Amino acid sequence: MTVGVPRETFPNERRVALVPAAIDRLRKAGLSVLVEKGAGEASGHSDAEYTGKGAAIAAGRTELFEQADVVLQVRSYGANVEAGEADLALLRAGQAVIGFCDPLANPQIVKKLAGTGATAFAMELMPRITRAQPMDALSSMATVAGYKAVLLAADRLPKMFPMLMTAAGTVQPAKVLIIGVGVAGLQAIATAKRLGAVVTAYDIRPAVKEQVQSLGARFLELGLETTEAEDKGGYAKALDEEFYRKQREMMAGAIAESDVVITTASVPGKKAPVLVTAEMVRGMKAGSVIVDAAAERGGNCELTRPGEDVEENGVTILGPDNLPSLVPVDASQMYARNISTFLLHMVTEGRLEVDAEDEIVRETLLTRDGKVVHPRVLELLGESPAGAQSQPQQ
Ligand code: NAI
Repeated sequence: MTVGVPRETFPNERRVALVPAAIDRLRKAGLSVLVEKGAGEASGHSDAEYTGKGAAIAAGRTELFEQADVVLQVRSYGANVEAGEADLALLRAGQAVIGFCDPLANPQIVKKLAGTGATAFAMELMPRITRAQPMDALSSMATVAGYKAVLLAADRLPKMFPMLMTAAGTVQPAKVLIIGVGVAGLQAIATAKRLGAVVTAYDIRPAVKEQVQSLGARFLELGLETTEAEDKGGYAKALDEEFYRKQREMMAGAIAESDVVITTASVPGKKAPVLVTAEMVRGMKAGSVIVDAAAERGGNCELTRPGEDVEENGVTILGPDNLPSLVPVDASQMYARNISTFLLHMVTEGRLEVDAEDEIVRETLLTRDGKVVHPRVLELLGESPAGAQSQPQQ
């Protein structure tokens, strides 16, 4: 079975789905690896490094898709809508494609993927169960994003993060507020603490308080946290506008006092909640910095423009829309580990066996035999899951 790794085509995407160091494991499982020429260049991996590990190089994308039984991508079509559309014509029945695909935000795209006949898997739907932790690419990428968000803020802030007592006087530490403490928020807290900032953090899920405190940060008590804010999977639920209005009102003071605000709040499959309004930004000191790490999902700040820097009343609002790609070496290494572990989970004696009884497979499987099979995607499309399940499984 041949595993194909195409070059990523999303604008400014620097990650690659498989790094040379991940090839040995695949070859030991009886798989051969074919990499599109230059696929690893932006993350510092030359074609020679791939061939040195036993991979072959495909000169063109068409050749790669033709020969690959399984295609591994960082961003498959749904997560790369414009440039990725060209890949639809290259996919075929009997082929599998694994990558981020943003299926809950783009269910129509899953339909188009199904039309190719390929078996598609979405990495972001990996269940958050212990068994699947080594395959949890969402967590890996969130870790990188949380780290980098703090560095971007530190770079733009006209102050230092740590308190310094020098012969030239005392430098006060920067005050950093993190809103949304999932995987990215926890890494943002740890990174800001390492740089010496005084860190406060807030999340609507009550379980987070202890985690914030264990990292040496202060939990912002709003009295709004509610067990109803968390679903069975540990994710935040979407709350009504009245809740968000109260939350904004109560956070305004903490935001005004902060030099840096990092927002990472998101609700799976939904637009990110707006937690920092234009008025709240105008209440901040000139020189303050907001890094909206939820920019890709529309942003937690009303003024965020995804992919752009905005200046309002002396406050800088950064809306990075692909933070993991700014740290392509480690992000690719972690992603490669996640995706190859997932692939090997489905490989038996050198062949891909798609066992829909297995929770990891069932939760990530989007399309099969020309049909959309994922219940949540079908629901979003207004179609019945029962109809899909009655299709014979190969
Ligand atoms: P996410 O990226 O979906 O959201 C980020 C954070 O935003 C979450 O903590 C969420 O509660 C918060 N948020 C949403 N609305 C908010 C609001 N209005 N105000 C403040 N904060 C708000 O979250 P992520 O990082 O994917 O983590 C979700 C959950 O999954 C967490 O409980 C995490 O610990 C858990 N998890 C479990 C894993 C496992 O068991 N294998 C692996 C990774 C995460």
